[in-house]
Amino acid sequence: MTNLTNIIEEHLGSEYREILDRISHSATKTGLRVYLVGGSVRDLILGFTPSELDLAVSGESTDPIGSLATSLSGVVYSKSEFGTAKLDIDGIRLDMARTRREKYVKPGALPTVEFTRSIKEDLSRRDFTINAMAISLNMATRWELIDPFEGSRDLASKQIRVLHRRSFVDDATRILRAIRYATRLSLDLVPETSILIENQLSYLGMIHGDRIRHELIRIFSEEKQAEILNLAESLGILRAIHPSLGLNNTIVSKLQESSRRPGQVVLGSLAFEASNHMRSSLKNRLSLSANWSRIIEDIGHVKTKFEQLSEKRLSPSQIYGILSQYDTHAIEACSISCKDTKIRKRLELYLQKLLNTSTIMDGKNIIALGLSEGPNVGKLLSHLLDAKLDGLVPTREDEEQFILTNIIRISQD
Ligand code: CTP
Repeated sequence: MTNLTNIIEEHLGSEYREILDRISHSATKTGLRVYLVGGSVRDLILGFTPSELDLAVSGESTDPIGSLATSLSGVVYSKSEFGTAKLDIDGIRLDMARTRREKYVKPGALPTVEFTRSIKEDLSRRDFTINAMAISLNMATRWELIDPFEGSRDLASKQIRVLHRRSFVDDATRILRAIRYATRLSLDLVPETSILIENQLSYLGMIHGDRIRHELIRIFSEEKQAEILNLAESLGILRAIHPSLGLNNTIVSKLQESSRRPGQVVLGSLAFEASNHMRSSLKNRLSLSANWSRIIEDIGHVKTKFEQLSEKRLSPSQIYGILSQYDTHAIEACSISCKDTKIRKRLELYLQKLLNTSTIMDGKNIIALGLSEGPNVGKLLSHLLDAKLDGLVPTREDEEQFILTNIIRISQD
């Protein structure tokens, strides 16, 4: 058995180590078996400090997590019927789950869960060998690695491999997880796993929109979002999620050249080329919220303005007038995806400069200068903003002069 004492000492912060020490003693006293599992084991073996710890607990008790929490004077602040719970022990939050086996009755549906006392059985229900390892926390076997599927060997040879041939049939969100881990951790999909993905893409169609969206958002939050999406496109994953989604080189290089873009922008850019009808169908497929839906819709609206935006002469205030009613995420998605340089530059000018332009003088200042309260104040403010956008009133004095000149004109209109 491999003992990971050195790795734990080197890569786990003292706060986590103290809590795990207490858990080790409590587990041994209460007759429970407790393990570190999943991503935290994978990350420790890779030499990273895990951002959160996942624990698996087994024992005779009908509520092993409750027993452990009581013996540690911890608080269970959320609990599910599937034997998972979130615990707070002296301010440190831990995710715990009872060791379980899962049966997938129907592809894409959530599995039925049965509890088991065997950690090996629990590990065998998981997605990839690299995520199917555990570290024992019990005193007699403390820090020993349990690795029935040789995940540590796959990590060392930088490979990602499913545990069995039905893994993606059971849960096709694992396809999205596979490309996320492969890119984040620089792993190669072993040929068998790659072929399974290719042949089982259609199972993505059986997954509820919420779960697909959740995994997409996890991809969008990754540092290497562009690389993951590139891999998704090359494996046909984007179109298998929804035919409106696609990626081209313009989008990839735009995503790569700046820091991580918001998820709404990335999704919008993937759906940029599609028709309004297809984008509308995407909203339903991914069960998008009202906010995300508006962004996807606005992409269509902004595209209808492309002809205007490609006109030879357009002042900054005219560009502002064309775009200001649309969601900025939608405009950003268009700026990433649009291949026409002139239009793209105008969209970028709007986002980087025009959008943040404001006047020094406000409505109160205008009234103080002599215009009576009413709709004309708003009208004059809007003219003033246009002048500001076009660089005609750079200083406060210029703005004041502009207002005084226009008060008379606007009052006579
Ligand atoms: N898991 C699985 N199949 C899934 C989702 C999760 O087998 N569709 C298992 C894996 O063993 C995974 C663990 O549940 O390691 C926890 O899942 P999650 O929190 O989503 O991922 P992490 O491994 O913690 O990875 P990360 O958060 O770094 O992406």
